[in-house]
Amino acid sequence: MKWNGLIAKYKEFLPVTDKTPMLTLNEGNTPLIHLEKLSEKLGVELYVKTEGANPTGSFKDRGMVMAVAKAVEEGSTTIMCASTGNTSAAASAYAARAGLRSIVVIPNGKIAFGKLAQAVMYGAEIFAIEGNFDDALKMVREICEELPITLVNSVNPYRIEGQKTAAFEICEQLGKAPDYLAIPVGNAGNITAYWKGFKEFNERHQTGLPKMHGFEAEGAAAIVKNQVIENPETVATAIRIGNPASWEFAVNAANESGGKIDMVTDEEILDAYQLIARTEGVFAEPASSASIAGVMKDVNSGKIPKGSTVVAVLTGNGLKDPNTAIDVSSIQPIVLPNEKKAVMDHLKGDGHV
Ligand code: F0G
Repeated sequence: MKWNGLIAKYKEFLPVTDKTPMLTLNEGNTPLIHLEKLSEKLGVELYVKTEGANPTGSFKDRGMVMAVAKAVEEGSTTIMCASTGNTSAAASAYAARAGLRSIVVIPNGKIAFGKLAQAVMYGAEIFAIEGNFDDALKMVREICEELPITLVNSVNPYRIEGQKTAAFEICEQLGKAPDYLAIPVGNAGNITAYWKGFKEFNERHQTGLPKMHGFEAEGAAAIVKNQVIENPETVATAIRIGNPASWEFAVNAANESGGKIDMVTDEEILDAYQLIARTEGVFAEPASSASIAGVMKDVNSGKIPKGSTVVAVLTGNGLKDPNTAIDVSSIQPIVLPNEKKAVMDHLKGDGHV
């Protein structure tokens, strides 16, 4: 069957009326990839939901298609968001598609280069403030109260509705819910959406429920430390958030499912980031790799038992953040003359050939 995007596929689960436009960039339907080597090493069946395969390279497309379609339905002409980068890319793409004006507020100098390139290309108006994501979100919430502009951060309930469809797809791809769902946590909208999705799908199709294991970055672990972090810091800029808007929903998802919210260090994130690229051929951005780092930590400590089926959500494409990739990599291009002999000599000199 031809794939026509999320609204068409899951409309019975979504707030779709006969006035909702069938907006789409053919988002969703992302691969669930079995990580063969890491599964064997850890003694679990580990799969990744590769959300970087969405049209703008992250899971945000799922929520944004719904939020922008509803904005159009309600007669809005302008959308606005705060963002660590991916939300701004998705918002500006779907705004372009729907013919809306998009305004994005980002922390100056703290968003990955690929994401900035996307907002520029899709034609957003971009405000870079000398503050972090939490400052930007507070500001846009206030502005959207005062001006006739639709807020498209995940505090907009349509975002959560769209994002829950990833849980539906996982159940369809595996034939049931996994035992564990590992997911990065930033503003905490996505873990909220997945839990809602698993519950709704289970009610309809008896697919079961996973234990939800959410992972914050240690330098931005407000939920784990149970305190607002004024100056969050992490290499995973996508989740550099110190006061998550969906804090209570995330805690509820963890508790209700028998899971937990935990944290991983930048070092663990970067190790996982490189490991899955080099050994599995899967390149996800640093924030996404927090889910893999978390699975490794939990299997090693016994919190995820051997033999479990685990799905880790890889929220964004590795190409979003080329600078981190180059910075952490020990591999550098070897500059050689444009001569076969020079290349041959180099190969032989390595002792491998
Ligand atoms: N992973 C990536 C790649 C993200 O971009 C985000 C959030 C998350 C995980 C965390 O998801 O906020 O729902 O808990 N990025 C937002 C943005 C904040 O502005 O793009 P969450």
